[in-house]
Amino acid sequence: MKVFYKKELLQEHLAEITIRASIGFIPTMGALHKGHLSLIEKANNENDISVVSIFVNPTQFDKKEDLRSYPRTIEEDLALLQTIKCDVVFVPSVSEIYDDNINALHFDFDGLEFEMEGKHRKGHFDGVGTIVKRFFEIVKPLKAYFGEKDFQQLQIIKKLVEKYRIPVQIIGCEIYREPDGLAMSSRNVRLTKAQRKEAPFIYKTLMKAKEKLKKDSIQTVIEWVEGEFKKNAVLQLEYFEIAHSKTLKPVRRKSKKASYRGFIAAFAGDIRLIDNIALN
Ligand code: PAF
Repeated sequence: MKVFYKKELLQEHLAEITIRASIGFIPTMGALHKGHLSLIEKANNENDISVVSIFVNPTQFDKKEDLRSYPRTIEEDLALLQTIKCDVVFVPSVSEIYDDNINALHFDFDGLEFEMEGKHRKGHFDGVGTIVKRFFEIVKPLKAYFGEKDFQQLQIIKKLVEKYRIPVQIIGCEIYREPDGLAMSSRNVRLTKAQRKEAPFIYKTLMKAKEKLKKDSIQTVIEWVEGEFKKNAVLQLEYFEIAHSKTLKPVRRKSKKASYRGFIAAFAGDIRLIDNIALN
């Protein structure tokens, strides 16, 4: 496994190999867990070499405190990557990526950026678009892998490559869950024991909502989810939405033809957790 800190050196190395090899790219913000490893495994199966980036991207955080407290475990991450097949790891500094201009570009994602996460995390998707586009330019992968836990992000990145004609195939990968159903997330390591115990409530509620939707209306199910969270002393609901899988616009009425998902964002103290499931 080769580790690079400078983009020029990474690019020189990749230029040598890509004449003959296809690159699968897995961008991450570190604090790696089994979910990340499953993305790397998939990339290994589908490409000649895998490149993982570890970079806590400052421009996608709307709150300074969230950026400050985001878990950073680079030693453990590199040790974990040594245990699997991972050809190249890119660990740039903030100045390596942004020089001294730590600002996001502005993107038009045809409205996807204004739904759900976009409403609650101002500028978040401009930051994500900026860094993912930058990484694609540096790494030049054939395929790039993203988890469905950040389903809106996945749709936005698909839109990014379509609009900017970036020749990268975007591969969405199923959510990797703990045995009790909690979606794996780098943020989970910050949960207290009590919060960790309660956190699977998010997935359980999504599953029950899916069941209820078989007979109840959209509005009834939304009110039911909101009511369930009001009774929970540990988790505060930020939003529950039932949205179309492609447009991410709220679903008003059930339809057999449309494909939609349930999305939850909730806080355990100051730790923000998200999850989603297909509802039909
Ligand atoms: O999903 C993430 O971890 C980040 O948003 C990403 C895609 C690595 C960009 O910083």
